[in-house]
Amino acid sequence: MINGMLHLHIMSWVVLLIVFFAAYENFSDRLGPSQYFKPLMMLLRVFALLAVVSGCYIFFKAMNADAMLYGIKFLFGLLTIGLMEMTLARKKRKKPSRNFFYMVIVAAIITIGLGVHLPLGPITAMFK
Ligand code: HEM
Repeated sequence: MINGMLHLHIMSWVVLLIVFFAAYENFSDRLGPSQYFKPLMMLLRVFALLAVVSGCYIFFKAMNADAMLYGIKFLFGLLTIGLMEMTLARKKRKKPSRNFFYMVIVAAIITIGLGVHLPLGPITAMFK
């Protein structure tokens, strides 16, 4: 079960990152949203939910191994997803969103680093 959840988790955040970039690029400051923006926002929510649910499942199964780092991973995962929402919300209100976009990238890199550092999962296994 936990292996399946790890695969679901990785699939979810990989797709989530791609859909986030796609949604960001499908809202032009001059022309507003493209026809793909709304469906992309819906996909973003679906894959964010999958990433959170699978992440929570693994978290509650495995956190005893290193409660502190697992806790930080949890927070950075949520922060990454929260920043995605804030970035796209600013875009919709035509407020500057570049810095938020960069913060998403930094938060995602930290989250991925933590996930790969923590002991479980196929990406971790590639480095052993
Ligand atoms: C609330 C959201 C999230 C929670 C609660 C969460 C939680 C977890 C947990 C508990 C693990 C297992 C760590 C281990 O034992 O090795 C994990 C793995 C991982 N997560 Fe997340 N995560 C979340 C979101 C994200 C996001 C948004 C990303 C990417 C941007 C991400 C990237 C990773 C990576 C790279 C791994 C390691 C997979 C591997 O080693 O094969 N997570 N996550």
